[in-house]
Amino acid sequence: MRLTKTYCITRVGEKCFVNNKAHCNRITILKRGYRWCGVGSVCLLFIYGLKWVEWFGRMPGVKVIAIANQKGGVGKTTTAVNLSAALAARGKRVLLIDMDSQANASTMLGVEVESDASLYPALIGEVLLEDLIRPTRRRNLSIIPAHVDLSGVEVELTQTDSHLTCMYDAMEGLRQRDYFDYVFLDTPPSLGVLMTSALCACDEVITPMQCEFLSLEGLSKILFVMDQIRENGVNSRLKHEGIIMTMYNNTKLANEVIRQVQQELPDKLYRNHIPRSVRVAEAPSFGRTIMEHDRFGTASMAYQAVAREFMARHR
Ligand SMILES: Nc1ncnc2c1ncn2[C@@H]1O[C@H](COP(=O)(O)OP(=O)(O)O)[C@@H](O)[C@H]1O
Ligand SMILES: [Mg+2]
Repeated sequence: MRLTKTYCITRVGEKCFVNNKAHCNRITILKRGYRWCGVGSVCLLFIYGLKWVEWFGRMPGVKVIAIANQKGGVGKTTTAVNLSAALAARGKRVLLIDMDSQANASTMLGVEVESDASLYPALIGEVLLEDLIRPTRRRNLSIIPAHVDLSGVEVELTQTDSHLTCMYDAMEGLRQRDYFDYVFLDTPPSLGVLMTSALCACDEVITPMQCEFLSLEGLSKILFVMDQIRENGVNSRLKHEGIIMTMYNNTKLANEVIRQVQQELPDKLYRNHIPRSVRVAEAPSFGRTIMEHDRFGTASMAYQAVAREFMARHR
């Protein structure tokens, strides 16, 4: 019986070969079944093929992004923390390195600041940067906390030849391993040694910017410094990834500033702006991100939209 079936299937084209109608129907059903199996296999191969391409595309490893603007109080730390958390919630493996001696990013994530876990010893080559990584209580999100002793680095490093490359050198081990998808550097508010070493160590820069006229001046200054770093050859791959407008409120002034940025750097400006919200200012005192503190609030939605935009720009 089994032999007959096999025989008939191999001769499916020859309809008149079998005289039994029920048998013929069975063969037609089997024929269709095999055809659908074939189509299904091709689809699966295509889907898994795409996944492999995506995986191999990811092979170059971690992308290092500095959140930088030499002006203080423009929302750098708030953006670094909330963008990192929003990306981690979307399944990306993220490390946030707090490079500001004020340690605001560490506090915002509710991480205890210990002097033996600060970036300082890694920058002077005493310990490995990987040994300083601490978990946060969020999935996929880790941090290297800062400590007040980082302020001493500025003085100490300027006296060495490696003050521009110290951060790049410290990150060498991280770059070679596939631990993280993104490493964010929360930079201090000055164009000192720490900020320039961050710009020399990163692949991309995101500039958070307040919707004020003086911010335009600050923006041109940081773009100038980035040009210099590229031209000097210290970091020729440095890319200005984008500008995120922060503390936005719908005033004539804010809209005019946005219009000017849009006109000058149309492909750099993120479409989603972060609104000014008292909930953002409140969240750090609870050691929470804005998504944890006010999940459905406007600022939380805006940071999630920025994270989606970021992922679309990095596809
Ligand atoms: N969207 C916002 N709405 C209201 N307050 C904000 C917003 N973003 C940041 N802030 C507040 O502004 C202050 C400076 O922000 P911060 O992120 O520390 O700036 P920076 O790191 O550039 O110095 C903080 O008190 C922060 O809570
Ligand atoms: Mg800050």
